[in-house]
Amino acid sequence: MATKGLQVGFIGAGGMAQSHMKGVARLSDVKIAAICDVDEQRAQSVAKEYHAAAYTDFRAMLRKKLDAVYIVLPPFAHGEVEKAVIKKGLPFLVEKPIALSAKIGEKILDAVEKKNLITCVGYQLRYMSSIQQAKAFLDKKTLGMIVGYYWSEMIRGAWWPYMEKSGGQVVEQATHIVDLMRDLGGEIVEVDARMEQRVHGKNDGITIPDTYSVRFGFANGAIGTLTTCCLLGEWNIGLDIMVDRARLHWKIDELTVTPDSVALPAVESFKAGDIDATFLNAVKTGDRSAIRSDYRDALKTLKVTLAATESATKKKTIVLK
Ligand SMILES: NC(=O)c1ccc[n+]([C@@H]2O[C@H](COP(=O)([O-])OP(=O)(O)OC[C@H]3O[C@@H](n4cnc5c(N)ncnc54)[C@H](O)[C@@H]3O)[C@@H](O)[C@H]2O)c1
Repeated sequence: MATKGLQVGFIGAGGMAQSHMKGVARLSDVKIAAICDVDEQRAQSVAKEYHAAAYTDFRAMLRKKLDAVYIVLPPFAHGEVEKAVIKKGLPFLVEKPIALSAKIGEKILDAVEKKNLITCVGYQLRYMSSIQQAKAFLDKKTLGMIVGYYWSEMIRGAWWPYMEKSGGQVVEQATHIVDLMRDLGGEIVEVDARMEQRVHGKNDGITIPDTYSVRFGFANGAIGTLTTCCLLGEWNIGLDIMVDRARLHWKIDELTVTPDSVALPAVESFKAGDIDATFLNAVKTGDRSAIRSDYRDALKTLKVTLAATESATKKKTIVLK
């Protein structure tokens, strides 16, 4: 690596990209060198803030010498960008959902693995100390039931409320909960879902369902449920996991177990990870062991969420291979 540090490029400079940029800017030995957005004004203004070069065409940006790339695009925009980044042999962090079709995800994974590239996917909840603590608590226990929920609000804007652009709330947003269910509960092999537009869609042009109810079958035999809605003016996100005579309750940084007589592993032994530091450290050292969700793993989460849409559309249970 050159002494001037890692040169990082961003493709997409919207809300989440700017959040990662703040994380990257805090790291030593790393420079945000290039920022690309199809919105020229956004590309220019964000690039100015980081003294980076601005681009509106990712192919032009990739002609610059870079060490790693962030791909932070709306869900519908994946495919060509990854192809070009992989062709350059660059490690990348991509935001969830990694695509809107398993076929695109599989093609990208195949190309990534042919070049043995380091990848990291934005399932940042996996890096929370509360999740590590929950994992330690659940280790070697028999899971009975996993109940997840993501009850939030309708996000307006250019792509979120439209099915063909975002994939809907489970694929785009509650994917975080599905991903944690897999992280804590193991692989999901069966999905049965229902979805409805109860409030939205009639007069507002919104095409995503505003309510979902999903049942999951885990490979280990546990049963899971997920309910989501985007009807509220508030956000409630959480998981409850039932094991023999104990209920683990997780709500972002709140982790409790009932009854009180059941002990959680000591908090001090769990430190929150930082997804940007983890990814860029892996790029620097070549050691990818601290990355908690890579492209291969995130594709499994995508397939579960897509199965929920398919199940609800066809009104039948989907068995995942
Ligand atoms: N991990 C998390 O907690 C988290 C949180 C929020 C968003 N996200 C994810 O991040 C992604 C982006 O979300 P956002 O809120 O930043 O969206 P956004 O709409 O704010 O930003 C997306 C940007 O991408 C640009 N863009 C679209 N196509 C492009 C292309 N081909 N080349 C370059 N730029 C292009 C748009 O002009 C826009 O500026 C989504 O997949 C979302 O799910 C993740």
